[in-house]
Amino acid sequence: MAEAKNDTMQKIISLCKRRGFVFQSSEIYGGLKSCYDYGPLGIELKKNIQNEWWRAMVHQREDIVGLDASIIMHPKVWEASGHLSSFSDPLVDCLNCKERFRADKAPIVEVGAEITYKSQANKKELTKKAERSYVCPICNSPDLSAERNFNLMFKTFMGSVDPLSEVSEKLANKNLSSTEVRTLLENELKPSTVYMRPETAQAMFVQFNNIQQSLSLKVPFGIAQIGKSFRNEVTVEHFIFRSCEFEQMEMEFFCEPGTQKEWMKFWKEERINWYKRYANNSDNFRLRQHEQDEMAFYADDCYDVEYLYPWGWDELEGIASRTDYDLKKHSEASGEKLTYFDQQGINPETGKPGWRYTPYVIEPAAGATRALLCYLIDAYAEEKGVDAKGNEKVRTVLKLHPRLAPIKVAVLPLQKKNGMPEIAREIVQRFFNEGITAKYDENTAIGKRYSRHDEIGTPYCLTIDFDTLEDNTITIRDRDTTEQKRISVEDAISEVRKRLEL
Ligand code: GAP
Repeated sequence: MAEAKNDTMQKIISLCKRRGFVFQSSEIYGGLKSCYDYGPLGIELKKNIQNEWWRAMVHQREDIVGLDASIIMHPKVWEASGHLSSFSDPLVDCLNCKERFRADKAPIVEVGAEITYKSQANKKELTKKAERSYVCPICNSPDLSAERNFNLMFKTFMGSVDPLSEVSEKLANKNLSSTEVRTLLENELKPSTVYMRPETAQAMFVQFNNIQQSLSLKVPFGIAQIGKSFRNEVTVEHFIFRSCEFEQMEMEFFCEPGTQKEWMKFWKEERINWYKRYANNSDNFRLRQHEQDEMAFYADDCYDVEYLYPWGWDELEGIASRTDYDLKKHSEASGEKLTYFDQQGINPETGKPGWRYTPYVIEPAAGATRALLCYLIDAYAEEKGVDAKGNEKVRTVLKLHPRLAPIKVAVLPLQKKNGMPEIAREIVQRFFNEGITAKYDENTAIGKRYSRHDEIGTPYCLTIDFDTLEDNTITIRDRDTTEQKRISVEDAISEVRKRLEL
């Protein structure tokens, strides 16, 4: 069973490469760990997911506005948010096989249990008592280094001076201890050190006043953002599930203190229903409330939207009730009051109208690239059937929701002659004019073209054949049922529009 699920992942990874959805980054140089490139179809799928999110979260709501903030922010942002001091993973080195891994992701054992593993030095079997509640994920050894916290933020340097040449001059010919070298390095590099944002969320807090005041927004309101985030992830996990560079779709919803419970109820339902809307198997999505010890100390509630991946239930989106923590932290650190004045609101302390408060926040934080993976898994199907000669065959089909499909309609001339390409190109142009993604495709036999479009999730194929030349009709083939129906060329747009529910 586990093997079959692993096999499904391998098939999806292979399809992603073969059909141009996702490639390993810098592949010709051996690839870069946990970094991926989204190819011609991957970028379309990702944009479609992001557009659907933006439509639901911004365009179809009166109370949410957008933001596109810079990736590099003032380093004090990360000091105030706590990312510099505590956005870290506990890392451990295996003293047997030398693997470095995350303690919180390692296989769990009972402290004191007898653990058997193979010595890397002499290949003999050893038995040792576990001193911790986990062992090495590679060799099962309980012989481990101390845990060290490793900050996940990528550092870089800003400014016209190369800090390394400055520091190397100061270090030259000095006989310093490693601690002294480290202190000197830190002091010299600090003024020019900046960070690649590890989440898009902080900009929404930092720009709270500018956005609220420029649009005279009334609480409750939200600020939404889609963009890249960067984390120096040590664990390589499940293809694009955990990447070093990924895209997030986050929204900070600012509400009156005391109303956060009802908004949490609203947003958790809204978000799970959004995922289910585009899914074939909606039972594979669920909400899971965090245990008290799982939550950040400042949060008063938290849910994960989880998906049943081939390796089991795992996180897709986090929905956190973050109280007034972030706005207060940035207020303290910047000296700028990040508060809201409600003229009509009754001040609980005075009992009179006019209440200035720090809004509470509900944050639905989704991963766009993780959603892409989950919709690929949800859509992937292998169906048994028979070919034109009656032989058994397996059809691979990506049953992507039409709104997510990279190409909505493929237009296929049966032959590359007899005027068929010209008719096909004219039809494609009409779809372009309507803003519907269409693809002209004349290569290989028609059956192979259908298979190719099934594999990339194109919902409809329109075929121009000999009858078209006689009676101006074409066939429309449905990806999921493979049924074909004749329609007139004139009806092509309206038929596809109707079926796509556009
Ligand atoms: N502002 C809150 C925040 O960033 P998070 O749970 O760390 O919360 C939110 O991230 C979502 O971003 C996750 O649920 C996941 O979908 C996505 N995500 C986080 N780290 C990721 C990574 N390394 N690769 C891909 N997606 C990631």
